[in-house]
Amino acid sequence: MTQNEICGPRHVAIIMDGNGRWAQERKHPRVWGHIRGSQIVSQIVEQADDCGVKALTLYAFSTENWSRPVTEVKVLFTLLRKFLKKERKRILANNISFKVIGDISDLPAATQKLILDLEEETKDFEGLKLTFAFGYGGRKEIIDSINKFIKENPGKELEESKLNSLLYRPEIGDVDLLIRTGGDKRISNYLLWQIAYAELWFTKTKWPDFTREEFKNILLEVSKRERRFGMVSTTDCLENSRKQADENLKIIRKN
Ligand code: FPP
Repeated sequence: MTQNEICGPRHVAIIMDGNGRWAQERKHPRVWGHIRGSQIVSQIVEQADDCGVKALTLYAFSTENWSRPVTEVKVLFTLLRKFLKKERKRILANNISFKVIGDISDLPAATQKLILDLEEETKDFEGLKLTFAFGYGGRKEIIDSINKFIKENPGKELEESKLNSLLYRPEIGDVDLLIRTGGDKRISNYLLWQIAYAELWFTKTKWPDFTREEFKNILLEVSKRERRFGMVSTTDCLENSRKQADENLKIIRKN
């Protein structure tokens, strides 16, 4: 199935929740769920690429997650390192452009190097833009972007389009679809600026049980929903809606 066939969301963001509960239900320590969950990540990346999604942004570690037990934090670090080592070849072979958004300065030096090397190697790749939000917080991203502007433009007023360009990974643009697994209906400080017009999808499925099939079905369902960006006209396809909204704005601004 291709993007043209499903005409679906271009930028999908996922809050991969429910790992701890999944493990506890099975009488295992919480980290068991993270281990299983990290295996699902590769499958969903592959499925996103197959469905023609252009950008996939995964919430792997929030600023709030620092307050978890040290052992759990360490396991998450290790899983990130393992993922990078294991998936590097596949990322390169599939033209995937990889980036981490967030503060990685407290990660082990070797893991930081793996991240920076892979970012550098893939920065010009034109396939799926895969982003891990790690040590990430949405409010912090907005504040960092504003502070950057103030520093570079003292005394000037900040415009919306300028802020867009100062975000951690500006080229991925707005989120079209935000999925949260695990049954809760919260945003949890994720991509607060970018989700302004996103479709929201909450599933009870806990992340370790999330499948390619469920992901594909969500993409299909959302492609059928109508998105009008606050206007009255209708189009069938998210991408057309977005283009139409941009065109209309240009015309309105001109006149
Ligand atoms: C939420 O589950 C999940 C996280 C805090 C981390 C998500 C991490 C992964 C899916 C694995 C890491 C993978 C890579 C490749 C870095 P939770 O523990 O809050 O679950 P709960 O709501 O059941 O407690």
